[in-house]
Amino acid sequence: MSTLTVANLYAGYGDVDIVTDLSLRVEPLEIVTIAGTNGSGKSTLVKGLMGLLKRIRGRVDFEGTSLLGVPGERRIHMGIAYVPQVNNVFASLTVLENLQVVEGVSDRRRRMAEMLDRFPALQERRSTKAGALSGGERQQLAFARALMASPRLMILDEPTAALSPALVHEVLRLITALRGMGVAVLLVEQRARQALAISDRGYILDSGRVVIEDRADRLLADERMADLYLGEH
Ligand SMILES: Nc1ncnc2c1ncn2[C@@H]1O[C@H](COP(=O)(O)OP(=O)(O)OP(=O)(O)O)[C@@H](O)[C@H]1O
Ligand SMILES: [Mg+2]
Repeated sequence: MSTLTVANLYAGYGDVDIVTDLSLRVEPLEIVTIAGTNGSGKSTLVKGLMGLLKRIRGRVDFEGTSLLGVPGERRIHMGIAYVPQVNNVFASLTVLENLQVVEGVSDRRRRMAEMLDRFPALQERRSTKAGALSGGERQQLAFARALMASPRLMILDEPTAALSPALVHEVLRLITALRGMGVAVLLVEQRARQALAISDRGYILDSGRVVIEDRADRLLADERMADLYLGEH
């Protein structure tokens, strides 16, 4: 059974559709990239998947169960984690408090210990307010928060935005490691080349539509891609 199936999805704001007739799937333990330029509808898509938009229609199934009509918090309990593009940690709370306030966690103390073990930088900074963390530490905290509820699908919206090249590398390594934790990943990125390099498959969005989809290695080798979608933005 697919982890996520999206079929003929329309989503937007007010009375305008931004995402139109979009279909995609994520299989268990796959890393799937959604790439596309500024304003192509990537964040709108993931907000739709997380139940944060009023204007949405089509089919969205998680492990065979329809998500449409399921409230956002409930999706987290079902096994979907979401790391938004902005505001993905509480700046005024400490590292530990950020982990304590995640909802839908069954064995919280054990899970927190596991997260601090997996992210040693967070262990060191456990009493530091998240607002005072470096960009890389903050992103580790966002990942740790998302992992607290033991998800089987993690949706990441531009996790490398605003990071230095060395940290981009580090975050991509973290994403690759998610597979070993039993997590499939839907990765939204403007840095298409780097995202596809760690992905199994990819979808290219343009004006809210999927214009190209293929295995990641084929997309990276595709000449049309190089000109239009793989350049640095
Ligand atoms: N809250 C909103 N209300 C109305 N229109 C919006 C809203 N948020 C985004 N849009 C519009 O939807 C379109 C797609 O935006 P979206 O944020 O989904 O793009 P994106 O691919 O995530 O871009 P970026 O790479 O810059 O994050 C844009 O034209 C944007 O202006
Ligand atoms: Mg976006």
